[in-house]
Amino acid sequence: MATIGSTAVAMAAAEEDLTERARRHLIQPWPVAETVGDEARPLIGEGDGIYITDAAGKRLIDGPAGMWCTNIGHRRRELADVMHEQAMALSYSSPWYTTSSPSVALAERIAAHAPGDLNHVFFTTGGSSAVETALRFMQFYNNVRGRPDKKLILSRGSAYHGSTYLSASLNARPRDNDWMDSAGDLVVKLSAPNPFRRPDGKTVAEFADVLVDEFRDTVARIGAERIGAFVAEPIQASGGVIVPPEGYLPRVREICRANDILYICDEVVTAFGRLGHVFASREVFELDPDMITFAKGVTSGYFPLGGVVISDRLLKDLRRSNHPEAMFAHGLTNTSHPIGCAVALKNLDILEGGVLDHVREVAPYFQARLRSLMDLPLVGEVRGVGMMACIECVAGPAGELDETIGKRIDGHCQELGLLVRPIVNMCVMSPPLTITRTQIDDMAAILREGISRTMDDLEREGLWRRPTNSQAFS
Ligand SMILES: Cc1ncc(COP(=O)(O)O)c(C=O)c1O
Repeated sequence: MATIGSTAVAMAAAEEDLTERARRHLIQPWPVAETVGDEARPLIGEGDGIYITDAAGKRLIDGPAGMWCTNIGHRRRELADVMHEQAMALSYSSPWYTTSSPSVALAERIAAHAPGDLNHVFFTTGGSSAVETALRFMQFYNNVRGRPDKKLILSRGSAYHGSTYLSASLNARPRDNDWMDSAGDLVVKLSAPNPFRRPDGKTVAEFADVLVDEFRDTVARIGAERIGAFVAEPIQASGGVIVPPEGYLPRVREICRANDILYICDEVVTAFGRLGHVFASREVFELDPDMITFAKGVTSGYFPLGGVVISDRLLKDLRRSNHPEAMFAHGLTNTSHPIGCAVALKNLDILEGGVLDHVREVAPYFQARLRSLMDLPLVGEVRGVGMMACIECVAGPAGELDETIGKRIDGHCQELGLLVRPIVNMCVMSPPLTITRTQIDDMAAILREGISRTMDDLEREGLWRRPTNSQAFS
């Protein structure tokens, strides 16, 4: 038994050492100025299925599946094997001069799943570079077609599209733009399609009309000849799993078509199984975009890969243009990376070999179990589709209190064995897609207890009081 104690001590020492070394050398993403380069986040040692294990040996349900990416779960030998095999066969070849067979096979397979005539794929290293590629392609497309002024990009409140300069210029969540520069002159922001925050007195259907009118009016005001693209996540993921009103996206798509505005559907989160399909555009949202961006789940997070699927129509337009010599001067060293593409092919085998069916079968249960938390007075709304959901807490009009709630709930849930993704006053849940009903029950039970403990804390600290029946949030 002595070994258990000494193992724990050794792990704690190892964590302390890593923490110190991280503080000396590592910069974590999204740091704040006072701790930039001086911050160590909790150490995770292992992953297995839907679980990760922290440095103290505590096993946690991986509630956010990493960052919406570990779709088929951790420690899949098939993916480890294919990575090894591909590295031993061909670890890299330059996409500037050569083609590798995994990239061809993957492009072909992705094209077969993409809607309409989206038959060509440009591979990138992740979601930001996928969005960046789609936008640069739109600029190139309009330059070559003799429409250099048709470049403005429409984005929406609560959007998140990446961390490269142009993709980040589309972001519009709280704090995204407080301290960062952006290509603001290229972007026009529309309202977030959030039914929970819709104007007072409007039904959700009326809210859809408001959003469509705003879109149409904006195009009329600015002029379609100046607008190149509309970029939209079908469900705004890190904005808080915002599920738009039914029918709004297809209606906006029609306005785009009528005005020759390219519709770029950002499926970085929603593709590769999260909504039960390889792509959700057509199957879930009845959309046939001009381009779809993807990343994350394409390799279930085992290798950095992303891409854009582009409509044949756009490529034909380019070929027919007056500038056959114009070069799309865009490419990354790791475009079409053979290991990434081989991993993605195996990941697709696994998704198509039962995981997509499993998602379609288990998602209603996942949604229902999380919605059962609505009876907790701190919970304002539980929303979601497929295997993505958000618990939005509402502590009354005091916005400053709202900000701490997600972190508080996450803290309690971690003690109880669940990692949550806290976003301000929200908890976003998007577990590995292989999660079973029993594991969903565990997750819901921990969330209930974590939220209850948070309510107790808030009451004890005098920050919040349970509303009486007449005050209860609906
Ligand atoms: C919808 C969406 N687009 C793009 C990105 C950027 O992807 P990446 O972090 O792989 O660059 C993200 C990341 O979360 C995302 O959620």
